[in-house]
Amino acid sequence: MLPLSHESHITQGLSRNIDSFRVCVAPMMDWTDRHCRYFHRLLSPRARLYTEMVTSAALVRGKQLRLLEHSQQEHPVALQLGGSEPKELAEAARLGAEAGYDEINLNVGCPSDRVQSGKFGACLMREPALVGDCVKAMRDAVDVLVTVKCRIGVDDQDDYAGLQHFTETMIAAGIEILAVHARKAWLQGLSPKENREIPPLDYERVYRLKREFPHLTVIINGGITTVEQVQAHLAQVDGVMLGRAAYHDPYLLARVEAALYGEPLPERDEVLRHMRPYIEAELARGTSLKHISRHLLGLYQGEPGARGFRRLISEGAHLPGAGWDLIEQAMAPRRVAA
Ligand SMILES: Cc1cc2nc3c(=O)[nH]c(=O)nc-3n(C[C@H](O)[C@H](O)[C@H](O)COP(=O)(O)O)c2cc1C
Repeated sequence: MLPLSHESHITQGLSRNIDSFRVCVAPMMDWTDRHCRYFHRLLSPRARLYTEMVTSAALVRGKQLRLLEHSQQEHPVALQLGGSEPKELAEAARLGAEAGYDEINLNVGCPSDRVQSGKFGACLMREPALVGDCVKAMRDAVDVLVTVKCRIGVDDQDDYAGLQHFTETMIAAGIEILAVHARKAWLQGLSPKENREIPPLDYERVYRLKREFPHLTVIINGGITTVEQVQAHLAQVDGVMLGRAAYHDPYLLARVEAALYGEPLPERDEVLRHMRPYIEAELARGTSLKHISRHLLGLYQGEPGARGFRRLISEGAHLPGAGWDLIEQAMAPRRVAA
């Protein structure tokens, strides 16, 4: 049986519980949209899910409230905001909380050019006081948790003292939960992709943060790809945040859930079949299959027939009239291969 025991975990009460931060799926632009989160939730009843970054300007000035769409199955789910204007962020946070998000997370880690020109993301690591003002304004505006996701440093501000000062400022502003991508960002000269690969990971620095700020809930992020690594990190910090590995090999989420909570491992085919009512409802609303199916491609990673599954879906999902049948077709040869 698929461990679809969501209801028992998904309460506002639990979503504030520290234990609900043990496993998180990182915010990823263009990847962790609502379809992806729905799928991840099927694989992991407990993981805390994060939206793609939404800018406060898009919500407040652009009034793009459709960016807040999500389904009830996603809880606990956090809205990640990008911005650096306290009043605007407070209003965006209010809109997010009103829409039902369990947490509002501020992005202080993303290094892309677009983000820097708007003065948000990783460049804010240099301006802890401003981030503190943003956080205070957001906390005053909402009852749900306000959290921050940051890097261990930026450019030449890469010693422990810089991270320590940033953290102290966050705590003074009322932050109880900090997710830390364990590598610094180079704001000039590296693409966002390079900034996720080239600066070396320094997990020890994040562990030290937890040791020196024991009351802060610390979530570690960056380069975590196996159940064993998740368990090793959890011996040092309060939570792990999985990004690319969870996206490319989503079954990892089920394996983590099984290892940490003793849940039975769900059958991959069964997980997929649980997507059927969702997919059909979305198709009926006019969503194209390809927008949902692209997130499913990695489900059989490492299994016989995985390549055929990917290929059939990639080739067919954009064609007019593509629907659930295509997914069934893609599953069938896989069974033969097995
Ligand atoms: C495609 C992609 C988009 C991302 N978008 C965001 C984002 O919107 N906000 C953010 O804080 N981090 C973003 N990140 C960074 C991830 O949240 C995470 O910090 C990073 O990938 C390191 O974790 P990993 O090694 O587990 O992937 C993105 C990463 C990827 C791969």
